[in-house]
Amino acid sequence: MNIVILAAGMGKRMRSALPKVLHSLAGKPLLAHVIDTARTLSPTRLVVVVGHGADKVREAVGAPDVQFALQDKQLGTGHAVQQALPLLDPSVPTLVLYGDVPLTRASTLERLIEAAGAERYGVLTVTVGDPTGYGRIVRDASGKVKKIVEQKDASEEERRIAEINTGIVITPTRTLETWLASLRNNNAQGEFYLTDVVERAIDAGVEVVTAQPDAEWETLGVNSKIQLAELERIHQRNVANALLDAGVTLMDPARIDVRGTLECGADVSIDVNCVFEGRVTLADNVTIGPNCVIRDATIGAGTRVDAYTHIEGGTTGANVVLGPYARLRPGAKLGDEAHIGNFVEVKNAVLGRGSKANHLTYIGDTDIGARVNVGAGTITCNYDGANKHRTVIEDDVFIGSDTQLVAPVRVGRGVTIAAGTTVWKDVGEGELVLNEKTQVSKTGYVRPVKKKS
Ligand code: UD1
Ligand code: CA
Repeated sequence: MNIVILAAGMGKRMRSALPKVLHSLAGKPLLAHVIDTARTLSPTRLVVVVGHGADKVREAVGAPDVQFALQDKQLGTGHAVQQALPLLDPSVPTLVLYGDVPLTRASTLERLIEAAGAERYGVLTVTVGDPTGYGRIVRDASGKVKKIVEQKDASEEERRIAEINTGIVITPTRTLETWLASLRNNNAQGEFYLTDVVERAIDAGVEVVTAQPDAEWETLGVNSKIQLAELERIHQRNVANALLDAGVTLMDPARIDVRGTLECGADVSIDVNCVFEGRVTLADNVTIGPNCVIRDATIGAGTRVDAYTHIEGGTTGANVVLGPYARLRPGAKLGDEAHIGNFVEVKNAVLGRGSKANHLTYIGDTDIGARVNVGAGTITCNYDGANKHRTVIEDDVFIGSDTQLVAPVRVGRGVTIAAGTTVWKDVGEGELVLNEKTQVSKTGYVRPVKKKS
């Protein structure tokens, strides 16, 4: 099967410099949703018709399995498909999809493909409460499709028809070239309508069949930011329902956003206002507190992620405690039972089993062993202004509060670092390290007082 995706339109009503099909739904361009769905149908040719912002569109969704056809001027949906013809295999049918209709399910398309087979012309239609604006499906007395008439070209009587054209069609390809070549643009919009091909098919003795989607939202298109926001909510609600179905506890299914894939084990619980981006995996018994942002992360079983934690790449072992207000950045790897508390940032660093940094700390480019206690206000000074260096802290080290570790530096097993120490030289196993400072107390000190003006 060939698949052609129409994506040449400008999308004036989006009021944006970005081509319409590149606006994001669930963190991914509208067109990318359609391409991904198309891929699940294993087409032999996948052609995207581009026009407005063609270069940007090509750059955004370009892939080895995607070919592009350029429609210089948007002369109508029929004209758009015509531009793709040279790239199609004439021996198999062609399915036409729309770059701004992102939520059509593969199962719905499969039903249409099935109904049409290799020989018939198939139209995906849906009966709606308010058909205003859509092309209407005109049937004869026996119920056979006669034609599709656009809103602007329809008679009073035709406008009362509630069955509309979703735009998605499947057609034999060999005959399509002649049909498209014969289209005329003598209609209200002065366009070459793909919808007129139905009559060509009927004239050629080709049977026209219809299929319907499981849900009406599958055929909704995006023409404005309002419609984009509505589809985003529909999509997010579908994702939330799938999570609930899989046994995940969501404190409020209306307050979770998944912009990528979220895989959950058993007995996972997610509080309100969490955003998941990229690929996130939560193992069994993970609990996520409210207002967390989690991207590209693997969270181990039994881990508790408390409120306002921000993860942008990282993995944790089992039974880790994170947050509230913790931040993991790419390359953060936390061993089982590690604790990362409030206002602690971990980047490109490994913490061994049971190690803890509970308060106000930066751990960057660091290898920390097991059972290390990192006191409040500890900073790994990993950057000398030009290069990054590593800090190594072996097992069972105790780091007093307000310590700076100037990398590259190595702290041996079992070392104790006194509070307020700047460590810039390696420390041997078991040693106590401190900076000699003197504490001075003076009597009779008088604090300054504010001058009266
Ligand atoms: C089209 C259908 C209408 C159907 C409706 C469903 C036609 C003539 N009409 O109308 O029956 O009910 O979709 O939403 O097909 N495009 C191009 N190049 C063009 C024209 C359009 O790539 O020259 C793309 C647009 O970017 C858009 C899609 O095709 O993604 C549909 O075009 P649009 O003009 O919005 O069609 P409608 O008037 O909505
Ligand atoms: Ca139009």
